[in-house]
Amino acid sequence: MLTYRNHRLTFGLDGDIDLARITEGEEHPFYLYDLRYFTYRYQAFREKFADVAHTIHYAVKANAHPKILGLVRDLGGGADVVSGGELLRALESGIPADRIIFSGVGKTKDEIALALEKKIKQINVESISEFKRVHAMAEARGQVARVAFRFNPAVNPETHPYIATGFRDHKFGMDTESIHECLNLIDRPNPAVWVAGVTLHIGSQILEIANFDEALKNTLPLLDELRGRGYALESLDVGGGLGVRYDLDHETVDLENLDRYARTVLERTAGFEGELLFEPGRFIVGRCGVLLSKIEYIKRTPHKTFVILGTGMHHLIRPALYQAVHRVRPVIRRSETTSLVDVVGPLCESSDFLAKGIPMTDVEEGDWIAIADAGAYARSMASEYNLHEFPEEKFITD
Ligand code: LLP
Repeated sequence: MLTYRNHRLTFGLDGDIDLARITEGEEHPFYLYDLRYFTYRYQAFREKFADVAHTIHYAVKANAHPKILGLVRDLGGGADVVSGGELLRALESGIPADRIIFSGVGKTKDEIALALEKKIKQINVESISEFKRVHAMAEARGQVARVAFRFNPAVNPETHPYIATGFRDHKFGMDTESIHECLNLIDRPNPAVWVAGVTLHIGSQILEIANFDEALKNTLPLLDELRGRGYALESLDVGGGLGVRYDLDHETVDLENLDRYARTVLERTAGFEGELLFEPGRFIVGRCGVLLSKIEYIKRTPHKTFVILGTGMHHLIRPALYQAVHRVRPVIRRSETTSLVDVVGPLCESSDFLAKGIPMTDVEEGDWIAIADAGAYARSMASEYNLHEFPEEKFITD
């Protein structure tokens, strides 16, 4: 929640964190996370599936801070990782190997060796070549690799094209024919892979629940077929992707969407006798963070007013890369009247903006600004471009 109380911006699970107080005496931009909020969103997700066997594999890429992964461990969750680095980070944070799944189209030999050595829960395989590699490496090690086939259900989710993954022309997943080809390769006694399940992930920041419904509907025939061929299919991994209403101050609509999402998944998978796996990232961590920065300068030109911050696209690239909208608010509201401004960063390119043409109440140089919903894909995509340092990360725990 990000809301004004007595003209001071407050943040956090109960809106009890006074950002003017938190920023007092600070100079440089920083991220602030409310871990209580993380727990709350995690539990809200988990409760929806309380009646079925399931595991939440938090998508580490959304925010890989060890404190967050430690919380996932404490909550009994697992991890979805997409690199050897994320795999090691999850293990170091105490998430057990048998609660880690490994996704991604480009797993190297080293990464597969690490996954096999640590005996993780499953490798989500995305191509015939990867399947062959996993099989050969497991065989050479005298191991049986646990894999799930990432199915491309050929749906075009209604999200930004850069974060859609579930359509035929995306690099992700396999069609039914490719999965058949993989199965033919292991049609012999004692193969070195065990088909643990099927996995999907159609994209990110999806608000249209019908997209998930269609994806699951397209996947059911494959599940039937694999079962028919004698594969037990312990799990169906429905991926992540549930979006956050970045434009809204309150999360009511997020929670209504979660409810619709859960009902859709539960209805579609009603006949499935295995564990459901989920890989949510943004939905759980997105709203738990805020990026805070001082105004360095206010620059007025005949055409525009620029509010120039100490932070920019190097700390939150989403507006520049996906035309994403993050609410940008002064920490102290000095007026009721607003004027239109561009909120920009210090980097030497014009893509370095956080918001363009937004109404903002009066601000002065030295005031602090909060950029909302910076829990997911902010720090994890940050860079040191122009040799700026990474912002500090601060935590509210209780
Ligand atoms: N599982 C897989 C295999 C994924 O590729 C992703 C995200 C997730 C789960 C988690 O998705 P989520 O629940 O967070 O939507 N940088 C972009 C988002 C990229 C998402 C990539 N994959 C952004 O800032 O919007």
